[in-house]
Amino acid sequence: MLYERSERAGNYGGSCSVSLPPILSRAGLTSSQSRRKGVEVIDLHCHILPGLDDGPQDWEESVQMARMAIKDSISGIVCTPHLTPVYPENDRAAILASLEQFRSRLEQAHIPLELYPGAELAIDPYLPERIDSGEIMSINDTRCFALIEMPVEIIPPHLDRFFWSMQSKGVGIVLAHPERNSALMKDKSLLFKWVSAGVLVQITASSLEGEMGRSTRDFAIGLLERRMVHVVASDSHGPTRRRPALSAARAVVESVIGKEEADKIFYDNPRRLLAGVEPDCAPPLLQSPGKTSFLKRLLPFRK
Ligand SMILES: [Fe+2]
Repeated sequence: MLYERSERAGNYGGSCSVSLPPILSRAGLTSSQSRRKGVEVIDLHCHILPGLDDGPQDWEESVQMARMAIKDSISGIVCTPHLTPVYPENDRAAILASLEQFRSRLEQAHIPLELYPGAELAIDPYLPERIDSGEIMSINDTRCFALIEMPVEIIPPHLDRFFWSMQSKGVGIVLAHPERNSALMKDKSLLFKWVSAGVLVQITASSLEGEMGRSTRDFAIGLLERRMVHVVASDSHGPTRRRPALSAARAVVESVIGKEEADKIFYDNPRRLLAGVEPDCAPPLLQSPGKTSFLKRLLPFRK
């Protein structure tokens, strides 16, 4: 079964042009049916392949993470090792080879976790060509969307130009954890500008749970209120470092923006991205509506 090409294009331009796998209809379930069954939660950002980056050390830890994910009702994980100057060898071929080994191990262990290929890519002006050529990995290897790592402290120069060059090649951007960037916290208009231009935002589950500090949690909740969160993922790096779990963060999201919007973030959008299809997004808001500030004060805060 082939999907029609996605006509995704942000204001920076571009469109996707590959044939896509049947993620949305897997197991013969429609989106709403599988949601009712509660078996289709996908973690779009997880360092679960061992020995490739600062994720798990060995297969034992990877399998342990898989068991934890299943226990938390996660049914699928996009394996996203870093591709950075520190980890330059994690190209598409290396990730696919490791993924196949992991699939075999999960099968042997009778763990029913679906695995999808991915990578967390450091910003690099040559990324569009390297994705287009098939050298490096996009989300689910569709070349339609790429998970781009947002640095924690700085805003890289010429970022607008980078976004434009990606979208010009038909590769949509899913920006990983911008809520952890101190410069974006200070200038809230920047992320608004990028999202308005088609950039998608993935925030980290533990940010919403308060594990990254109060200012990160408050910024993340503000992004939810301003319709600037498209995916929540674990960004887990091991059984103890940001565990592979999403249910606690989902409870926070539901309390802030309601169940219907939470369903989009946790069910619909990840599956659309896996299939190379643009999420159905409402336009972002420059300011928080303000009506949920009361809820924000009530949310539990750890650490
Ligand atoms: Fe990550």
